[in-house]
Amino acid sequence: MINVLVTGAHGQLARTIALSQEEAVNVNVTFKSKKELDTTNKDAITAIFHNLNIDFCINCAAYTNVDQAEKSPDLAYQVNADAVKNLAEVCEKYNVKLIHISTDYVFDGNQSQPYLEEGFTNPLNTYGKSKLKGEHHIQKILESYYIIRTSWLYSAFENNFFNTICKCLEDNKDLNITIEQIGTPTSCLSLARYLLWIVTSNLEYGIYHFSDDGEATWFDFALEIAKQYKDQDKKALIKASESYPTIAKRPVYSVLDNTKRKRSYAMHIDWRGSINEIYQLRRELAQY
Ligand SMILES: NC(=O)c1ccc[n+]([C@@H]2O[C@H](COP(=O)([O-])OP(=O)(O)OC[C@H]3O[C@@H](n4cnc5c(N)ncnc54)[C@H](OP(=O)(O)O)[C@@H]3O)[C@@H](O)[C@H]2O)c1
Repeated sequence: MINVLVTGAHGQLARTIALSQEEAVNVNVTFKSKKELDTTNKDAITAIFHNLNIDFCINCAAYTNVDQAEKSPDLAYQVNADAVKNLAEVCEKYNVKLIHISTDYVFDGNQSQPYLEEGFTNPLNTYGKSKLKGEHHIQKILESYYIIRTSWLYSAFENNFFNTICKCLEDNKDLNITIEQIGTPTSCLSLARYLLWIVTSNLEYGIYHFSDDGEATWFDFALEIAKQYKDQDKKALIKASESYPTIAKRPVYSVLDNTKRKRSYAMHIDWRGSINEIYQLRRELAQY
């Protein structure tokens, strides 16, 4: 049996891993929320690692509010950099392999073609800078690590772009959505499956990019969510807008190149195709 610890258990990715874990054979997953394991507290991490016989730690804990990070940079760095250093040091001590989730926001978006793993990093905002610092800590401390950079995550759970658009459709509320940025919407289900695959795979250590396939603006993403919405009585007008002012700067183009990932995990997951699956899950969850 492979024992896996997942941090940040109440976040959308960790919750999706919890739903997907039965798809992984011989894998036993323990989840710890921020309340049960605050990753900024090294003693707390050590105590958990001492008590559990862990093979892998999937770090889903993060400070993810990109705009708020500009106002609270200390907190963003504490969670996305200092706490990651803590985790890496404890992983090193207990011989645990770390799977850490990072972001397309480590890039500045000045490229016009998808970013490779070794592409030049130059984050534009505090969130991206703090996440990049977390990556550097891991690379300095550990050999047995996977840094998985992903983009535009959405899920059936709470606050994310997908649910915001669904809510507007339900309320017949019109929307202006920006065409300013291009990236790839990525379903937490696609990523959760990949993370669970890694723990049984003997994959070579290092940095990997993982997103669903294709490119979209936020406007394209919203339109597709609306197109796949089942209740045709509910309609909201979705209009393209040139810009949407935000506190934090975002990369204009942050598509990740998945070539390296596909050499070992060849799954083709079109971003439009993933939306249907998240809709199904959302409906199932609404019944409880
Ligand atoms: N969301 C995206 O579009 C996106 C894109 C690219 C990469 N990522 C990365 O993907 C990973 C998962 O993101 P997500 O969307 O699942 O984020 P999320 O829903 O915001 O979940 C993050 C979780 O971490 C918890 N947390 C915060 N500080 C903590 C601490 N000190 N100790 C332990 N837990 C802590 C949060 O708890 P509280 O809510 O109670 O603070 C929350 O439950 C993150 O590393 C993120 O940077 C996300």
